Amino acid sequence: MASKELPFTEEKIKEIISEHPTPFHIYDRKAILENSRKLKEAFSIVNGFKEYFAVKALPNPYIMEILKREGFGADCSSLAELVLAEKTGIVGENIMFSSNDTPAEEFVKAKELGAIINLDDISHIEYLEETAGLPELVCCRYNPGSLKEGNAIIGNPEEAKYGFTREQLFEGYRLMKEKGVKRFGLHTMVASNELEPDYFVETARILFELVAELSRELDISFEFVNLGGGIGVPYRPDQEPVSYERIAEGVRDAYDEYIRANDLHPLKVYLECGRVITGPYGYLVTTVRHLKHIYKDYVGTDASMANLMRPGMYGAYHHITVLGKEKDEPTHLYDVTGSLCENNDKFAIDRLLPEVERGDILAIHDAGAHGHAMGFNYNGKLRSAEILLNEDGSFKQIRRAETLDDYFATLDFSGLDDI
Ligand SMILES: Cc1ncc(COP(=O)(O)O)c(C=O)c1O
Repeated sequence: MASKELPFTEEKIKEIISEHPTPFHIYDRKAILENSRKLKEAFSIVNGFKEYFAVKALPNPYIMEILKREGFGADCSSLAELVLAEKTGIVGENIMFSSNDTPAEEFVKAKELGAIINLDDISHIEYLEETAGLPELVCCRYNPGSLKEGNAIIGNPEEAKYGFTREQLFEGYRLMKEKGVKRFGLHTMVASNELEPDYFVETARILFELVAELSRELDISFEFVNLGGGIGVPYRPDQEPVSYERIAEGVRDAYDEYIRANDLHPLKVYLECGRVITGPYGYLVTTVRHLKHIYKDYVGTDASMANLMRPGMYGAYHHITVLGKEKDEPTHLYDVTGSLCENNDKFAIDRLLPEVERGDILAIHDAGAHGHAMGFNYNGKLRSAEILLNEDGSFKQIRRAETLDDYFATLDFSGLDDI
């Protein structure tokens, strides 16, 4: 059976568990750094390249600080994420604010921080003007509709709620020019967990072509295009990581073809990836609580879908390693479950593993993005801790686990007699 490597031993994890009980997410700092540098190096051939880390993937200030030091900005989608960026010292045009169905207070905060505001709809031009005032620089999100195929996670663009139609972009930029906006960007985000490099090259081509047309027709100039996030990760052990070089080379060639050839250079090129930046370098660590044998064999863990929702929500594959049994033959077929009263609370269905016993520790791979972040409190489950594993083997808790007091903090029992 194909396997996946771990950056820690069972012994190290037991040392961590002695201070921080399972379940928890652990992030491999060294691997996050190496990967970030690889991305930057590959895209250094692309004009004005910058990555805005999609905060929603892993909204933790320590991770954001590490990425900030690598020169990454923050792609924020809500007030809380804007404040997270601000508190981490990421401000101004190092923030890309890509939201939808946006409330006024979020536009106000984004404007106050000097963030690049990325509008999701043509009606938001006037809404932004009325609520926060139009900034000098505005970006619009394009929904290419039938021009581009989506995929299982993000869906078909024509069915997606995001972005402007092509016609609305022409109308929108014209309107903003009339209203005095001086600087423009163009954004799209049409893929999620996409492993095919050409998909991103094609997206770049569509945006570059559109920039050329919009610039010509409206006599405005664009400062950047943002190709969105969506670069996939090899969740399955037999899958290959996406080649950053192939995307970057394709984007550079498309840039030469559409941007340089139309005298539109310089145009900066941005990405706002989340998953590929931290996903493979985070693990959900959980202890086996019970084994159950009915019509099938179940491994019951102390984590649940509230810690990692992707398998239950999308049927997503996450590789599982039984610590200390890495070399054992996978002889048993299990469903690996959590304790929610939901039958889709399963990390794996019909997964071949070595024989599992109570107390075994499982590492669920590729949980470093859209993992802890998607957590919730259903069934009174408490959100778990996050740990950062340093290069030298030391570790630091970077988010504590919730307590019962946290759970009850928003409830009030004082009025029960009067109701
Ligand atoms: C607007 C936007 N940008 C970036 C991302 C990050 O996507 P990924 O983590 O797949 O790179 C998302 C994900 O939902 C998104 O909605």
